[in-house]
Amino acid sequence: MAETANTHVHNLEVVEVIKETDDAMSVVFEVPEHLVHKFRYQPGQFLTLRIPSATTGSVARCYSLSSSPHLDDDLIVTVKRTFDGYASNWICDNVAVGTRMTVLSPSGVFVPKSLDADLLLIGAGSGVTPLMSIAKSALVGGAATVYLIYANRDERSVIFGAELDEMMVEFPDRIIVEHWLEIDRGLPTADALVDLVAPFPTYDAFVCGPTPFMAVVGDALAAIGMPDSHIHIERYQSLTGDPFADIVIPEITDGETPATAVVELDGAKVEVAWPRTTPLLDVLLSRGYDAPYSCREGACSACACTVRTGEVRMLRNDTLVEADLAIGLTLACQAVPLSDNVEIAFDQ
Ligand SMILES: Cc1cc2nc3c(=O)[nH]c(=O)nc-3n(C[C@H](O)[C@H](O)[C@H](O)COP(=O)(O)OP(=O)(O)OC[C@H]3O[C@@H](n4cnc5c(N)ncnc54)[C@H](O)[C@@H]3O)c2cc1C
Ligand code: FES
Repeated sequence: MAETANTHVHNLEVVEVIKETDDAMSVVFEVPEHLVHKFRYQPGQFLTLRIPSATTGSVARCYSLSSSPHLDDDLIVTVKRTFDGYASNWICDNVAVGTRMTVLSPSGVFVPKSLDADLLLIGAGSGVTPLMSIAKSALVGGAATVYLIYANRDERSVIFGAELDEMMVEFPDRIIVEHWLEIDRGLPTADALVDLVAPFPTYDAFVCGPTPFMAVVGDALAAIGMPDSHIHIERYQSLTGDPFADIVIPEITDGETPATAVVELDGAKVEVAWPRTTPLLDVLLSRGYDAPYSCREGACSACACTVRTGEVRMLRNDTLVEADLAIGLTLACQAVPLSDNVEIAFDQ
């Protein structure tokens, strides 16, 4: 398949599938030499896959990388079947060695700033996927100590169980895995989690799992006084839009004066005319600039950037919280200009 003008969209071949549990499998993509620079990633980031659909043509879904950039040449995502879900079941039923899939370059901000700072990783079910990448990367590429709390229904549903055991043998002083099996201990409660997390109030916490699980984890971390700035959360949700769609920039009409954006991207500054109703990301991509994104619907924060001067407004924001807005963050896929001149930096 030809590469599109959009430099984030690529076509990768599946070179292996690994059955992890009865309802989860890992998909291994080979990255051809000429695309290696497009698929550099940080532990905790995700790929966005296009999944064919007879009714809508295709749907897009994000899957966290379980591989580590410090260890693995190939890209690995791990997909767990969602009950009644379309894409996860399609992948588990149809993807095999030789399948080619359309994929966006890695993105996401669920990434430790340092692999040397101690990490409290808390996940449930398929939420372990980005935590696995972070844990492996910290052990191999950093000096952090890792404490992983990993909740599952029962032993059969534990993804990466053997690999985690091996990591504890290889790095006995640096990683502890606390399995929480519902079948033995019931659903985790905030009180019970407080007992587990209490020794680690200064660690950086990375949390990923179903919404009710994240709520009790949030309560437990608040109860031990962990500052919000140490708590990082990845919310799994299905995209509703189509980030693979072509980008259409409306013509600038006579009498319309576009704003001007000066954008710092990959260490360089570029200046673009910014039509008043067009999101900045669309303007940049249509001009061939390689700005980061995934969902293009204000849901993932892959396109987060900082407004240095001037003013913008977001058409939609499902991901940035007050603390983000207070430090000037905006979403490039939703930002339109309010002032005539805006300076923005992709510095996240
Ligand atoms: C950053 C990120 C990383 C992720 N990483 C992973 C990962 O590593 N591994 C992983 O397995 N998943 C991951 N996900 C989740 C993944 O993207 C999908 O959301 C998940 O696979 C479910 O997709 P699906 O198409 O199978 O389900 P969907 O078809 O989207 O359905 C999801 C749920 O909604 C219900 N539903 C569907 N349509 C309707 C409707 N019209 N009305 C009411 N209910 C409805 C379904 O019954 C189902 O329970 C990640 C998500 C994000 C955002
Ligand atoms: S690309 Fe997902 S929020 Fe902008």
